[in-house]
Parts: sequence; structure tokens; C-alpha cells
Amino acid sequence: MNKTEQLTEELVYNKFNTEEALKKYISIARTKLWESEEILIEKYFKLGGRILDIGCGCGRVTFPLAEKGYRAIGIDICNKMIEGARVLAKNASHIPNFFLMDARNMQFDDNSFDGAIFSFNGLSEVYGEDNRSKILKETNRVLRPEGRFILSSPYFLLRYMPLFAASFICSKLMPKEERIGFGDRFYIKNGKECYFHVPKQKNLISLLESSGLDIVYSEKRNNLSKKDKKLDSFDCMFYVCEKK
Ligand SMILES: C[S@@+](CC[C@H](N)C(=O)[O-])C[C@H]1O[C@@H](n2cnc3c(N)ncnc32)[C@H](O)[C@@H]1O
Repeated sequence: MNKTEQLTEELVYNKFNTEEALKKYISIARTKLWESEEILIEKYFKLGGRILDIGCGCGRVTFPLAEKGYRAIGIDICNKMIEGARVLAKNASHIPNFFLMDARNMQFDDNSFDGAIFSFNGLSEVYGEDNRSKILKETNRVLRPEGRFILSSPYFLLRYMPLFAASFICSKLMPKEERIGFGDRFYIKNGKECYFHVPKQKNLISLLESSGLDIVYSEKRNNLSKKDKKLDSFDCMFYVCEKK
């Protein structure tokens, strides 16, 4: 494992592999699907299909997929998240399969899923473009031809600007190997270093396309659903892709 791969794990564990995150994501899982997700899932995933929920957390999306009649499988790199999903599964009417798995190296056969979803800006939790690219290539590998992938991603909002611009400009003063990429943000939470990335849309589009995923639809969440404007989280962009 190289240094970027190691750092990626550490940054994700600091944020999601903790008792606080377990409580938070169990309660988030109980809120179920956003209306925008519901619209896209029903339109782009064929009912009954085998669907992979990447970075499933405690199953906010995986449980509703199973309830709707999909064969849902959730994977997450953090055992606290999978532990939470398994706790919620005890009282669930439809029980998906959950696996502790790194999306950079999925233990699934080629062409074995009809659809995949990486929700709630999950790809932005992954440090380093190489790692994000690996996940998209793995997603493409496990999808069957014409299989669909739904991705949500943050986009640059004016209110992000001071946070990201300050760290990017400061990093220009650092030695080359310590400079951060555009859209990278490091911050301290509960005494631990955490990370989040807001991509330039054109970079993300070229990353998707170079992974073999054609974008067939994209729209901002708050344009897709008026109800979602009332959610606590910032607006995001949805990309629906199809394996070439
Ligand atoms: C923002 S949370 C979203 C959780 C869930 N999808 C939801 O909507 O509540 C992102 C999730 O991605 C997971 N994750 C990050 N990197 C991953 C990787 N390389 N492989 C699998 N899961 C990963 C994190 O552990 C975290 O649970």
C-alpha cells in the first residue's frame, strides 16, 4: 500500500470509524431516501435488479432499496458503519447483505451488478484523485454493460469559497510535496484530522468518462426535488452514468 492509499484509510477512519459516527449514521439511516434519490432510483434502476450501495454507511439507501424489491448489497470500508447497518437489520422488514469492503478493491465478479450508487457525496470523503479514480474503475468493472451508476457530488457553492480558497492559497507556501489539491479541505474534528473534497465539475466528468462511465443525466438535487431544499445538507449534483 502506498502513502496516499494509507492516508486515505486514516482520514476516512478518523471521520467514520468512531462511536460518534456510529450513533450519527444510525440516526441518518432512519431518515431513509431523499426524494431526489427516490426519483432517480425508480427511473434508472430496473426493479428486481442487483444493486450495489458503495460507502453504504449504516444503510440509509440500502434498506429502502431492499424494501423496493431490489437485491441490495451494501459495502463500507469502516467496520463501525457495517456494525450499525447490522444492528438496524435486526428490525428490518427486508434485509440487504452488508460487507466490510474497500471500494478501491471490490471482492465481486466483473459484470455482476445491474446498478450501483455512491450517495451523500461519499466519493468526496476519499483522499487523492488516484483513489477516487480506482473506485470509479472498480464500479465500472462490477457493473454489467449498460448498468447504471448514480453518484452524488458536492459542487462549488459561494459559501464554500472562503474555506477552500484559504487552505489552497496557504498550501502554495508549503514545500511541493505538502501542497494540497484544488478543492481539498483538511480540518480537525474531535481532535482528529478529517478530509473533504469538492471537485471541479469538469474534472469529475473526465474521471467518470475515463473510467468507462457515460453520463446520461445530471441535475442539481434541489432542482430535482423542492422537498430536498429543506434538508440540512448543502445542495449537491447528481450524475447518472451508464457503463459503455
Ligand atoms: C458520507 S458517508 C455516506 C453514508 C451513506 N451512504 C448515507 O447516505 O448515509 C460516506 C461513506 O463512505 C464510506 N467510504 C469512504 N471511503 C470508502 C471506501 N474506499 N470503500 C468503501 N466505503 C468507503 C465511509 O466509510 C462512509 O460510511
